[in-house]
Formats: sequence, C-alpha cells, structure tokens
Amino acid sequence: ALSVKNRIDKTREASLLGGGAKRIAKQHQKGKLTARERVHLMLDPGSFIEYDAFLEHNCSDFGMEDEKYPGDSVVTGRGTINGRTCFVFSQDFTVFGGSLSGAHAKKICKIMDQAMLVGAPVIGLNDSGGARIQEGVESLAGYADIFQRNVNASGVVPQISLIMGPCAGGAVYSPALTDYTFMVKDTSYLFITGPDVVKSVTNEDVTQEELGGAKTHTTVSGVAHRAFENDVDALLQVRDFFDFLPLSNKDPAPIRECFDPWDRDVPGLDTVVPLETTAAYDITDVMTSVADDSNFFEIMPNYAKNIVVGFARMNGRTVGMVGNQPKVAAGCLDINASVKGARFVRFCDSFNIPIITFVDVPGFLPGTSQEYGGIIRHGAKLLFAYAEATVPKITVITRKAYGGAYDVMSSKHLRGDTNYAWPTAEVAVMGAKGAVSIIFRGKDQAKNEAEYVEKFANPFPAAVRGFVDDIIEPRTTRRQICLDLDVLASKKLDNPWKKHANMPL
Ligand code: COA
Repeated sequence: ALSVKNRIDKTREASLLGGGAKRIAKQHQKGKLTARERVHLMLDPGSFIEYDAFLEHNCSDFGMEDEKYPGDSVVTGRGTINGRTCFVFSQDFTVFGGSLSGAHAKKICKIMDQAMLVGAPVIGLNDSGGARIQEGVESLAGYADIFQRNVNASGVVPQISLIMGPCAGGAVYSPALTDYTFMVKDTSYLFITGPDVVKSVTNEDVTQEELGGAKTHTTVSGVAHRAFENDVDALLQVRDFFDFLPLSNKDPAPIRECFDPWDRDVPGLDTVVPLETTAAYDITDVMTSVADDSNFFEIMPNYAKNIVVGFARMNGRTVGMVGNQPKVAAGCLDINASVKGARFVRFCDSFNIPIITFVDVPGFLPGTSQEYGGIIRHGAKLLFAYAEATVPKITVITRKAYGGAYDVMSSKHLRGDTNYAWPTAEVAVMGAKGAVSIIFRGKDQAKNEAEYVEKFANPFPAAVRGFVDDIIEPRTTRRQICLDLDVLASKKLDNPWKKHANMPL
C-alpha cells in the first residue's frame, strides 16, 4: 500500500514539473510564465482544482512509448475568478512544445463538456507548437473534437482564448471559434502557415511578428480583440474582463454593488458636441463619462476605430456600449466597422447584456473599394445583428443620424426600447449640402441649405413622429439610462422560432 502511495506522490510531483526544470527555465527566459503559473495567477488563490494530472498520451511510434509525462502537454481544471466558476485549460510548452496529442485534446474536451453541463465559461491559455507530429491523424481528430465543442458552446457559455505563445495551423481555429481572442505582445503569434511556407508559396519575405503578431491581429486583420503587455498583465486583465460576463446564456448579466451615484449629472456632456457640425469629438469621452467610475473595457480599440465597442457598468449592471467615432472617418460605417459592431452586438444579445448605442453617423462610407469589398453584404450584418437582438436596447443620438445608417444604429424601427436625442441631434436622409445639391441642383445653394437645416438639422422631425422618445439634456444621460435599465430588466421578447437565422456572412 505504501508503494502505491509513493507512486501517487511521485507521479503528482512529476506532473507539477511538466517538461522539467531546464525547459521551464527556457520558458522563463522567453519572458513567459509556465502553464501552471498562468493558471494560478489568473484564478483566485487556492481555487484551482485540477483534472487528469495522471493522464498520459498513448502513442507508441517514434520511441514515444518511453517518453511520457503525467498530464501530458496541457493543464486542465476549474477554479474561480472573484468567486465565480470558470473552466480552464493551459497548454504546457515545456512538454513536447505544448503540442496537441489525442490525450491533450481529450483533457480539453472533458472540461468543455463539464462547463456546458453546469453552465460556466471556458478560458483557454494557448501556447503550443500545433499538432503532435508523432501522432498524426490522432492529433487532427483531437482538434476537430475541440472545434465541435467550441461551436456547440457558442452562445451557451462565454469562451475566451488567450494566446501566450505560438498558435499555428489547425490550432488557430479553436480561438477563432471562441468569443474573444486576446494576445500577449511580442511572445504570441497566430497564423495558418509560418514565414517559411509563405516564402515558398508566395515568395513573400515576412517575419513571424509581421505575419501573425499581436500588432498585426489587433490593427490589420481583426483576428484578435486586445493585446496585452506581458503574461501577468494579460492574465490580470482577463480577470477584470471575466467580471463583466454572465456565466452562461441562462444567467443574467452580473450586477455589482455600485458606489458611483446612478443619478449623477454629467455636465461635461452639455458641451462635448462642437457647435460646428463637421467638427470632431471623441465618443469614448461620452461613453466613459456616463459609465460607473468611468470604467470602460474596450474591445478592438485599434481596429476599425470609426466604431467604438466595449463593456461598462451602469449602476452596477454590465452593459455593452457601441458608439460611432466622429474622430475617425467622421464616424462613417465601413466594412470593418460593420463587422466589428455586428459581432459585438451578437455577443451581447447571446449573453443577456443590454446594449447602449451612441449615434453620430453621417452614413456608410462611399467609394469603389467599399462597394467592391461588399459593404452591402457586410453592412447588412450590423443591421441584422441589431434587428435580431432582443436584449434591452437604449439609443442616444448625440448628433448625426443620417440615411440608412440611422436605421441601422439601434433605431426605434429595429425595436429600440428607449431612443433619445440630444438637442444637437440631426436626423435626416443626408447633410444639408448634399441634399440641396441634389433636390435643387445647387440653385440658391445658401438659401436652400439654410431652409434644409432649419427643417431637418434638429431633433424635431424624429421627435414629432415618436421615433425618439424624448429630447434630453446631455448631462442627464447617465440618469436616464440607469432608470431605463431598471425597467427593462424584466423585458421579455422572443424572435419567431427557427433552427437558426441565415445572417449575411
Ligand atoms: N509536435 C511534437 N513536438 C513538438 C511540436 C509538435 N508539433 N512542436 C514542438 N515540439 C517539441 C520540439 O521537438 C521540442 O522538443 P524538445 O524540448 O524535446 O527539444 C519542444 O517541443 C520545443 O520546441 P522548439 O522547436 O525547441 O521551440 P521553439 O520555441 O524554438 O519553436 C515552434 C517553437 C512552435 C515555432 C516550433 O517548435 C515549430 O515550428 N513546431 C512545429 C509547428 C508545426 O508545424 N506544427 C504543426 C502544425 S498544425
């Protein structure tokens, strides 16, 4: 009996050491934490409960039968973040480069299955050389088993991927299927094929960092939603982010105690919109100043900056905020902004998070590059997402709400619950100059423009038709939203039964 106990202790100890001290030192030299250090930092102290520390790979080719590590190349289990349960896997680069064996996949699938059973989010810490080469198709099967679970879990429990090392080939598609992909600057990269393959196929010279580093994916491709400075920063930020999310689609969004007075005036908002109608201002100033404690967790801050999306709290309740950004391309909607906005709105709707929309949009961006790129198809995604959403929807028109973009941005007509205009709002088919040049062919431009402005460049045409519920003083915006959220907390609205919609992709 003693020998069994010895064996248990020894194996557990070995499992804690992963690929051994030398490889751990190498991991640290790269500025990376180990799989276990990451888990312990992300979860509440002492809360981690590990599964399958004894599980081993069962490959017997290429001498693998003699090289086994208890737990293989991934650490899995569950724990809490600020007291709320989540399931986690953390790939261990010190064991076969964190490569995915059949056993590794089995461990991930087990915690995903349990997360679905109990209704709790899954957080994946990715650091892997890809498919376990020695295992061949066994490893590919493992990826597909994970993909299928990612898809089944989509919209049921939140799924977060943190990329903390290499993630290449088939491995990229699990993060891509999850709700959020975050990266660590300088030490992580995501690509389908690495620089060598790129060179041989397209003759392009490109570094790993240029091809798939954090900067590329957060500014150019839109594959990743945020990049963090290092492992510690990333894991602590994920903790903060997790606090915004419900545990599952059956859970209401969490409510936290709020010490910021819900009915506080925000006097700065009375003057935030410039008198000159074409002058820019920063919509994030509006979003942060109405949020509890000015706390705003922005998603994709460096991609499609003409739209701003992110999470905040209003009187303690999680909300998703969407705003057109007049500072960038005058806040026009283009392909990338539409897709960014649509995905965010759909996430909020999946997980019972009310959506607050700040509208200052002169329309969709004109031009051949947008039309050829399919702005019609992509713009339709944002329209689709708003129209489909049944969570509470509160809209504030701060200035321009022109043309089709007015309809799209959570308008009354798309079942907006409460829609407000600030006194500076202009709801019209287009701006005065363009309108007059079309309907009067430029005749008496100045006089006709003045008449158009008088008629349309104000909130009244919308207000007299009930398309906005009220014209409010900007300083009262926070108070109004908080009052509405209280009432709308019991909102019940179902879309017609269907297998799933056929949203334009
Ligand atoms: N399968 C099995 N073992 C792997 C592996 C894989 N896919 N990827 C890495 N390893 C092993 C290495 O053999 C090495 O083992 P060792 O510690 O016993 O020497 C260890 O993991 C670390 O790899 P190493 O190449 O030394 O690390 P690195 O930081 O220099 O490079 C990678 C990391 C990911 C760039 C490199 O390992 C690589 O290119 N791997 C293959 C990637 C790939 O093509 N995967 C299949 C695509 S799905």
